[in-house]
Amino acid sequence: MNSYLRTPLCERLGIRHPIFGFSHSVDVCVAIAKAGGFPVVGLAREMPHEIPHILAAVEAGMGDMPYGIDLMLPSAVPQEATVEGLRAALPAAHVDFVEGLRQRFEVEPPNKPSFFTTQVRSEALFEAQIDAVLGSNARGIATAIGLRADLIDRAKALGKVTFSLVGSVRHAQKALDMGVEVLVAQGYDAGGHTGPVGTLSLVPQIVAIAGDVPVLAAGGIATGAQVLGSIAMGAQGAWLGTLWMAARENHTPPALLDRLIASRSEDTVITRAHSGKPCRVVRSDWIDAWSEPGAPVPLGMPLQQVLTGDVFASMHEHDDARLIYEAAGQSVFAIERETTVAAQMSTLVQDMELAWQRLRGFAGPNSG
Ligand SMILES: Cc1cc2nc3c(=O)[nH]c(=O)nc-3n(C[C@H](O)[C@H](O)[C@H](O)COP(=O)(O)O)c2cc1C
Repeated sequence: MNSYLRTPLCERLGIRHPIFGFSHSVDVCVAIAKAGGFPVVGLAREMPHEIPHILAAVEAGMGDMPYGIDLMLPSAVPQEATVEGLRAALPAAHVDFVEGLRQRFEVEPPNKPSFFTTQVRSEALFEAQIDAVLGSNARGIATAIGLRADLIDRAKALGKVTFSLVGSVRHAQKALDMGVEVLVAQGYDAGGHTGPVGTLSLVPQIVAIAGDVPVLAAGGIATGAQVLGSIAMGAQGAWLGTLWMAARENHTPPALLDRLIASRSEDTVITRAHSGKPCRVVRSDWIDAWSEPGAPVPLGMPLQQVLTGDVFASMHEHDDARLIYEAAGQSVFAIERETTVAAQMSTLVQDMELAWQRLRGFAGPNSG
């Protein structure tokens, strides 16, 4: 599958298509690379000692094809903290509320340890994650929520391309001032942590201040016509997250996949109940319970995860059809059935081509 539409950033990174795929799944990332996109391995949910094994699996799967990694590095987290230590600091009213929900929904405890039950987002965790990723062969290093000047400098010194997810002109300017090399303009429509500005309004504003720095569009994008539209707005490609959850390679829990297939854009909501920061997720009874009358305002990051991390781990481990949710964007409209990454990439590229033909048709016979 050769692409007729490659942007300068595709040339620089050595990829065939202007499609960037964020995923927490090694298998999805390998398949995106093989199909000519640029995979970005989400490592924000990984324990530092696991990161070298994950990246070894990525590299074993894709050989020397280029890939990126992504970390979430919010500021204002504790220097060092443990789940046990922070549990003691949780407000009693919140603990009682969650206990009530555990009983009401008959939440079984998780059996397997996971990031959500054992880790607290802290400076110490971030430093260990950063050390683990800088030693890899990743071509790109992306960061979300926060920016670290030292990480950007160290990554660039190692010849890595630095990406920053930004949700506002102010964030974008800060990233530019720190020397970030690719801006990912991620709009309100996106799955995961988002700002209040929609993708269609955000991208041109970021393009306008970015100068020569390439911009990617993210949030709500799941079709080739949208990728082409992003490029028409001045972006050099699109960054997709939600769509890959429909791929077999993602091993999405069956009840979550059913929920994603049944959901429309309006079934995704912004909530602080997941992490403590505004995050777009697909609704479930668990998420809805946090907006019922009498529900407390969620705690901040990282306390909200300490409060609810075991329930999140449990609903995924036990594939709880009533409670299970995940970060998901308005792009969920495009999830109609389980498929494969290769099929998704092929559909995206074909749809880009169709959209291009449509535009040429509108341009008329004398437009050259
Ligand atoms: C399940 C899921 C988890 C995500 N986790 C992260 C993350 O850890 N770090 C990050 O930078 N972005 C994360 N994102 C956001 C993606 O990087 C991307 O910006 C977003 O998915 C784009 O919007 P879309 O979901 O409509 O495609 C996540 C998205 C999803 C769907």
